[in-house]
Amino acid sequence: MIKLTNISKKYQQGSQEIIVLKNINLTIQQQEFVAIMGPSGSGKSTLMNLIGCLDQPSEGELLIDGIATAQLKDHELCDLRNQTISFVFQNFNLLAKQTALQNVELPLIYRKISKKERIERAKEALARVGLAERMNFLPSELSGGQMQRVAIARALVTDSSLILADEPTGALDTKNSRQIMEFFNELNVIENKTIVLITHEPEVAEYASRKIIIRDGAIA
Ligand SMILES: Nc1ncnc2c1ncn2[C@@H]1O[C@H](COP(=O)(O)OP(=O)(O)OP(=O)(O)O)[C@@H](O)[C@H]1O
Ligand SMILES: [Mg+2]
Repeated sequence: MIKLTNISKKYQQGSQEIIVLKNINLTIQQQEFVAIMGPSGSGKSTLMNLIGCLDQPSEGELLIDGIATAQLKDHELCDLRNQTISFVFQNFNLLAKQTALQNVELPLIYRKISKKERIERAKEALARVGLAERMNFLPSELSGGQMQRVAIARALVTDSSLILADEPTGALDTKNSRQIMEFFNELNVIENKTIVLITHEPEVAEYASRKIIIRDGAIA
């Protein structure tokens, strides 16, 4: 379970204080599938980064599985992230000099899994997103939609219980988008993963069991 209590996020820009998230209260249950929607700049990615412990709130408390994340040491936070959370980033965040296969292998290296098993699992994840034939391509040799699917394969290759996906279908056409969403749906229903997914598209949000709208940094 993820619990945010009175979370706010502020940035200092010179003399100006920018409040990006204000007083967010949100509980996400285990095995929930939540869609986060809202206008550009409303704070969706900022919220996702906080939930994923990639960033710290300015105020408020974030509990993950009952653990108060603010009290964790850096290496404990890192372990929590590596063991339980997978990300699909809005800008893919693929390593430019690594092939699709090597990019997908990466989270398994952090988990100290053997080379043989890493390659097997990475190949399988790429096959699941329809990219078996592109595994030796570099990101620069892939289309936007293909890079996005590599990023999704990288998130799926581990058995994280929480998947955070920031517009995972933003670069995909309708057919691929539907396939990927069926896939997220399977992960949720069959593999019992908790999914928090940001999207602009109502058809994509339909796959979720709950929709949250963010406007001007607050839950509407
Ligand atoms: N490091 C930063 N310093 C100052 N302001 C920031 C910083 N990071 C984000 N912001 C501001 O926070 C606001 C929310 O950004 P965020 O990326 O969360 O929006 P979003 O809802 O994900 O938008 P989009 O749909 O375009 O991806 C924006 O106005 C942005 O300028
Ligand atoms: Mg965003």
